[in-house]
Amino acid sequence: MNDPSITLVQSLKMRYPSIMLVLFPFFFVSIWESNSPLVSSETFTQCLTSNSDHKHPISPALFFAGNGSYSSVLEANIRNLRFNTSNTPKPFLILAATHESHVQAAVTCGKHHNLQMKIRSGGHDYDGLSYVTHSGKPFFVLDMFNLRSVEVDVASKTAWIQTGATLGEVYYHIWEKSKTLAYPAGVCPRVGVGGHISGGGYGNMMRKYGLTIDNTLDARMVDVNGNIMDRKLMGEDLFWAINGGGGSSYGVVLAYKLNLVEVPQTVNVFNISRTQEQDATETVYRWQQVAPELPDELFIRLFIDVVNGTVSSQKTVRATFIGMFLGDTTTLLSILNRRFPELGLVRSDCIETSWVQSVFFWANIQVGSSEKVLLDRNQTTNYLKRKSDYVREPISRTGLESIWKKMIQLEIPTMAFNPYGSAMARIPSTTTPFP
Ligand SMILES: Cc1cc2nc3c(=O)[nH]c(=O)nc-3n(C[C@H](O)[C@H](O)[C@H](O)COP(=O)(O)OP(=O)(O)OC[C@H]3O[C@@H](n4cnc5c(N)ncnc54)[C@H](O)[C@@H]3O)c2cc1C
Ligand SMILES: *[C@@H]1O[C@H](CO)[C@@H](O)[C@H](O)[C@H]1NC(C)=O
Ligand SMILES: *[C@@H]1O[C@H](CO)[C@@H](O)[C@H](O)[C@H]1NC(C)=O
Ligand SMILES: *[C@@H]1O[C@H](CO)[C@@H](O)[C@H](O)[C@H]1NC(C)=O
Ligand SMILES: *[C@@H]1O[C@H](CO)[C@@H](O)[C@H](O)[C@H]1NC(C)=O
Ligand SMILES: *[C@@H]1O[C@H](CO)[C@@H](O)[C@H](O)[C@H]1NC(C)=O
Repeated sequence: MNDPSITLVQSLKMRYPSIMLVLFPFFFVSIWESNSPLVSSETFTQCLTSNSDHKHPISPALFFAGNGSYSSVLEANIRNLRFNTSNTPKPFLILAATHESHVQAAVTCGKHHNLQMKIRSGGHDYDGLSYVTHSGKPFFVLDMFNLRSVEVDVASKTAWIQTGATLGEVYYHIWEKSKTLAYPAGVCPRVGVGGHISGGGYGNMMRKYGLTIDNTLDARMVDVNGNIMDRKLMGEDLFWAINGGGGSSYGVVLAYKLNLVEVPQTVNVFNISRTQEQDATETVYRWQQVAPELPDELFIRLFIDVVNGTVSSQKTVRATFIGMFLGDTTTLLSILNRRFPELGLVRSDCIETSWVQSVFFWANIQVGSSEKVLLDRNQTTNYLKRKSDYVREPISRTGLESIWKKMIQLEIPTMAFNPYGSAMARIPSTTTPFP
């Protein structure tokens, strides 16, 4: 895939040669500055050391550019190959904090030396905002992956999780303690808690339990002055902001306290595809009306991609209906055959499994895999660009057909539609800053 920024510069060069004069020094300065931060590594290390807890030395957590395992630490959580190029601006330092006081030192010293700090948890930001800046100024990354404890308390149905944990780690540690507790968050197990909760978060239980952030009880964060605050100390406004408003605008979130939710011993998942030849348009049209009105326990995501038609030289659009039902197969079939017969769901389409195994299904990992796979932080990384929007009224059949036509022309793009309704309609939109 082309790097869009390169395409932009080339087209500017052709159309407006004078703009190159502006762009060129900017580019040049950025290279020079990122190799030579305004503060020497010795001075900055000294500041970090004197501002952190001496019982937890900070120096082993420092990875300066060009030194030792800097590249592998940087690349370990790059989740978008668009930002793994030699032109991508790189931090002069990665501080992989192993203690809360390292985070406080990062904020204090970053501020003192007027350096830009990027905070990274799981690195899944669609635009690499957790490890890239285009400001042209020297910056460092505060990497949270070492701070990833998950403490589950079954009695109170709550958990404290550090932001460097992945969603898979959270799901795993809940499963270790209880087979009927779960957490309503994203479907990709490698997404980081830090970005997911601070920026919002949704998954296949949103119709029953709302957004991920509708289930946050407390938080610990390092504020702009380097102080550690909990919900009581930070106050309700700041607490509201760091639950959907984007954490890095306000400080560094160390941990969140979650409310865990109840799930049945077994749940049902299914996955049914229809191409245009198989009446995809009509099924999608009906789905739009039905999906937001179904019972809270039933969530049906619609996924659209382009595949070969029966005549393989001809592309067709495929609509895939991916379902999650917090209940048994017989109930699921009776609901869908009454409310959405066009889908044609039959018993053999339904996979009855535990909640933790349903995570694998949604992540395209073999159902029946060892739960330990949820702890695996490795992931194949690819090129991606994603955007979201809201559809407030059902799209007409003609509208759908024109979307299909455009997608077939372009071939690559896919679309995922998540129905709201139920809890998403009951919880006022002002409860959280999630847009
Ligand atoms: C493959 C893939 C699948 C996804 N699936 C889902 C899904 O099912 N549901 C869903 O809701 N979203 C999903 N997302 C989106 C994802 O939730 C967001 O991109 C989220 O911000 C990623 O969190 P992260 O910690 O991995 O990202 P990062 O890139 O580490 O961080 C994202 C942003 O949050 C900031 N941040 C990170 N940690 C902290 C912290 N501790 N304190 C303050 N600020 C912090 C960063 O600075 C950055 O601005 C998916 C993304 C990808 C790439
Ligand atoms: C580079 O690494 C070596 C050994 O790991 C260390 O002694 C040295 O201080 C490091 N230099 C910088 C600039 O981090
Ligand atoms: C990222 O780039 C580095 C350096 O070119 C390369 O070694 C690495 O394999 C790349 N990562 C991925 C996931 O392709
Ligand atoms: C789709 O068709 C093209 C030829 O038009 C062929 O090269 C390709 O392998 C086909 N893809 C699949 C998944 O069958
Ligand atoms: C569902 O089916 C589609 C199309 O056959 C497939 O690409 C996808 O991996 C399946 N599973 C999920 C969870 O989407
Ligand atoms: C994940 O990556 C690490 C480091 O590259 C490697 O040591 C480990 O074996 C990998 N784990 C799995 C399950 O592939």
